[in-house]
Amino acid sequence: MRILAIETSCDDTGVGVVADGKVLANVVASQTPLHEQFGGVVPELASREHVSVLDDLVAEALKGAGLRLDEIDLLAATRGPGLVGPLLVGLTYAKSLAWGLGRPFYAIHHLEGHIHGALYGAAEAEPPFLVLIASGGHTHLFDMPRWGEYRLLGATRDDAAGEAFDKVARSLGLGYPGGPQIERLAREGDERAVPFTVPMRGRAGYDFSFSGLKTAAIRFVAEGYAAADIAASFQRVAVASLLGTLERAAADLGRERVIVAGGVSANALLRSRLAASDLQVHLPPLGLTADNGAMIALAAWRAYQTGRPYSGYDVEAMPYLPLGE
Ligand code: KG4
Ligand code: ZN
Repeated sequence: MRILAIETSCDDTGVGVVADGKVLANVVASQTPLHEQFGGVVPELASREHVSVLDDLVAEALKGAGLRLDEIDLLAATRGPGLVGPLLVGLTYAKSLAWGLGRPFYAIHHLEGHIHGALYGAAEAEPPFLVLIASGGHTHLFDMPRWGEYRLLGATRDDAAGEAFDKVARSLGLGYPGGPQIERLAREGDERAVPFTVPMRGRAGYDFSFSGLKTAAIRFVAEGYAAADIAASFQRVAVASLLGTLERAAADLGRERVIVAGGVSANALLRSRLAASDLQVHLPPLGLTADNGAMIALAAWRAYQTGRPYSGYDVEAMPYLPLGE
């Protein structure tokens, strides 16, 4: 079963090819330089850029996989959530390919993509899982008792975890995306030097909150704390917040296996704290942490294996698409 999938929910164009669960190609065209000058993603520009690069990217992915287009058995694309224009580009492109080739099609939830990217290389892993997704747009904790079944346990009340890394980076005069920059600067800093407090610690429930860290960082910059110390201390409490809530939920629900995914799952401190915990952790390989097409193809592969009905060629993009709410 050879699957080609397209991911265009935001500002990265991703095309992945997966054969029987193995990633043969995964190409991503980042639009970061295009949007940087505006200080955020401009949806109309993102849509146009997806249109202009998709043909070449599909050709590149097929070449990398050593396959011709007519050797693809199944097409997939992200249905949502995301920006409606960008979603429409990838979804319409993939549906058209499927229709033209006479192949079946799966419309995939973006977060299911992140989840199955994290399970890559763990073919034997079976639910139940506890799932933490931390990216620039999401900080969600789910219980996943069975394949395709999700129960939302908690989410951020304000900024997403990745967004906090980005905003704190900006307050330190670092570039976008902020996560990798904070991580680099933090290595030179003292993680106990700046008095950040771990948000939501001691609260009932499993929600997160990160906007207070951004506000605190701006104050600490004004008070003259060293940038490296701010980066290290912020990173320590951001990771402590994610991990603390995850561990508490795992204990409460009796879950041992957890999936941690999304752009923030690239963070080395988070990874080392997870490795040192009692949890059995599934993390995406580093090439699959950020948005990409292979994770959508992997989710489609799992949908196929578990007998999910195909999507119609008339399936629509859904900018707002909750999972398990
Ligand atoms: O999953 P992703 O690529 O896109 C979204 O769906 O949002 O996540 C991007 C986010 C950005 O906020 C970025 O700063 C963050 O992930 N990120 C990191 C790291 N690498 C990326 N955050 C912390 N540490 C990192 N190493
Ligand atoms: Zn994402």
